[in-house]
Amino acid sequence: MIEEKDIKRLIRSAFEGQERSYSPYSKYRVGAAILTADGRIFTGCNIENAAFTPGDCAERTAVCKAVSEGCKDFEAIAVVGGASGKAPDMAYPCGVCRQVLREFVEPDKFEVIVARSEDDYERYTLEELLPKSFGPANLG
Ligand code: THU
Repeated sequence: MIEEKDIKRLIRSAFEGQERSYSPYSKYRVGAAILTADGRIFTGCNIENAAFTPGDCAERTAVCKAVSEGCKDFEAIAVVGGASGKAPDMAYPCGVCRQVLREFVEPDKFEVIVARSEDDYERYTLEELLPKSFGPANLG
């Protein structure tokens, strides 16, 4: 369980990620921030594409940044999002992002924080959002 002050820090970082959202097509701006066991934070934003299918979600951007920098011991992720110019939404991670996170974590320990602000958030374990999941051990 991560502490309240770390949750707020992670949510702030997710909002910083959201500022870099490249979402000219959906105009739905998403930011994420993933916390590593050694206290590092990697941010991400959604990155859309004129050809649509190559678009990337904020959560996966954050995971790819971390893993490519040698960090894959994760404790929690915060996600923020909403339609451009509108009030923040509870932007729950899509199914693909849940599965990508699942690759690197113990689902009953890793926390997903979905926030509208530093004070208005929900917290879940990945197990709650992706029950009975398929993971690396299935291929072991
Ligand atoms: N999006 C994310 O960044 N994360 C999610 O988990 C759900 C959706 C993005 C993808 C796309 O750029 C926009 O939100 C609308 O679907």
